[in-house]
Amino acid sequence: MARISAGIATSHVPAVGAAIDMGRTDEDYWKPMFDGYEFSKQWMRENTPDVAIIVYNDHASYFGMEIMPTFAMGIADSFAICDEGYGPRPVPVVEGAPELATHLAASLILDDFDMTVLNVLEVDHGLTVPMSLMFGTPDKWPTKVIPLPVNVVMYPQPSGERCLSIGKAIRRAVEQFDGDLDVQVWGTGGMSHQIQGARAGLINLPWDKQFMDDLINEPEVLQYKPHLEYMVEAGSEGVELIMWLIMRGALGEHVDEVYRFNHVPASNTSVGHLILTPKEHS
Ligand code: DHB
Ligand code: FE
Repeated sequence: MARISAGIATSHVPAVGAAIDMGRTDEDYWKPMFDGYEFSKQWMRENTPDVAIIVYNDHASYFGMEIMPTFAMGIADSFAICDEGYGPRPVPVVEGAPELATHLAASLILDDFDMTVLNVLEVDHGLTVPMSLMFGTPDKWPTKVIPLPVNVVMYPQPSGERCLSIGKAIRRAVEQFDGDLDVQVWGTGGMSHQIQGARAGLINLPWDKQFMDDLINEPEVLQYKPHLEYMVEAGSEGVELIMWLIMRGALGEHVDEVYRFNHVPASNTSVGHLILTPKEHS
């Protein structure tokens, strides 16, 4: 049986990827942020999963205004790198896990989650920056990846309730897979940030910290937080945080907090990061 061994949450700020790619992580501005991921890189070396299901959003890099799936799943053998802004990052191609991904897509669709199935997909900073933060700069990524893009960039985004419940469905589906696989689920994006308009640069660290506490202890309550509250309290891009609910739903009722990190600011973002494990595995 495959099993979910851990959940990772982390912001996916594109400038963080650029800092890594340009060798600037030791600069005064960046060092305190990257230092906060040293524990995680070490932990990940000791807990490398066979497969990481990475919940992220495309930033109109591969998808665009024309086509924007609400929930999608990459089932291909591999995923090329793309990006907006700085352009594609010089990181290894992302290797897929087609057998598990196909099983998950079928299971979720039969569970009434209408996934868009992606036989071709290129992945942007939403997915590659978390991989760099957790794995550093290897020549080849040490784990296979199932990309799970979620629309958080264009109205209407899925509800928090839907996100938590798709996470729970992912857990059931993974546990029904006939294969001895260690699987992690990653939720990326957030925390508070606004990169446009009059409130550009908005950060709300107390709200972010409360969100982390609620995610750990009260996800069933958190799922009813309206999108408008994310907008008002966490800025126009803060709604990326609904993707963390998918990760949390996949971990079961109770979790242990392995690691927590906050840093303000990185670019326009309040950086937040968690490593959680399901209670029964700790
Ligand atoms: C920033 C953060 C993001 O999550 C993103 O997708 C784009 C920009 C920022 O802080 O600049
Ligand atoms: Fe983003």
